[in-house]
Amino acid sequence: MKFFVDTADVSDIRELAALGLVDGVTTNPSLILKSGRGIVEVTAEICSIVDGPVSAEVAATDYDGMMREAAVFSKIAPNVCIKLPLTLDGLRACRTLTAEGRQTNVTLCFSANQALLAAKAGATFISPFVGRLDDINLDGMDLIQDIRTIYDNYDYKTQILAASIRTVNHVKEAALIGADVITAPPAVLKSLANHPLTAKGLETFLADWAKTGQKI
Ligand code: G3P
Repeated sequence: MKFFVDTADVSDIRELAALGLVDGVTTNPSLILKSGRGIVEVTAEICSIVDGPVSAEVAATDYDGMMREAAVFSKIAPNVCIKLPLTLDGLRACRTLTAEGRQTNVTLCFSANQALLAAKAGATFISPFVGRLDDINLDGMDLIQDIRTIYDNYDYKTQILAASIRTVNHVKEAALIGADVITAPPAVLKSLANHPLTAKGLETFLADWAKTGQKI
């Protein structure tokens, strides 16, 4: 399973990259706002840190505008992945960009039928939002399972990028279902290493080690 980090904060990206936990990066307009930086310059810096796909999201809502913005993003670096909303214009832009050999990430997916359309448009990634479905008392993981089944039924190559991942359980469940990628905030990725029994066991080992009086 690939791990993408869902942030535009370059210090977090550098830290996680050093741990080998960054196969790619996803951003969105809210994360760009949070970074306080210009989308082109921050995306360029992220692309210089990470070799994998770095998603930059268009803000236009019409096909021509999306294509214009995609052209700006495409000039940044070869690993920029154009992120497009799951609308008819977004799907059309996805189809054109795919034919031009660009990587695409179709975002704001909340249904299996939407994911089917993205696969038919040749999307590199489909981003179903797990946490936001949980927020309205649906089960976001049911959507990941449905998309996995549909894509496997027809051998679609679009990769399932489980997004809006909020908890370590989301990561485990997405992995069990067979999502190709998860994108999660830095804190969730780091907390995957945590277990109270690991912390407790280490504390005991260190206390006993101190009692031996030895040094390595
Ligand atoms: O990048 C999109 C997605 O991961 C957003 O997550 O937590 O804002 O629903 P969230």
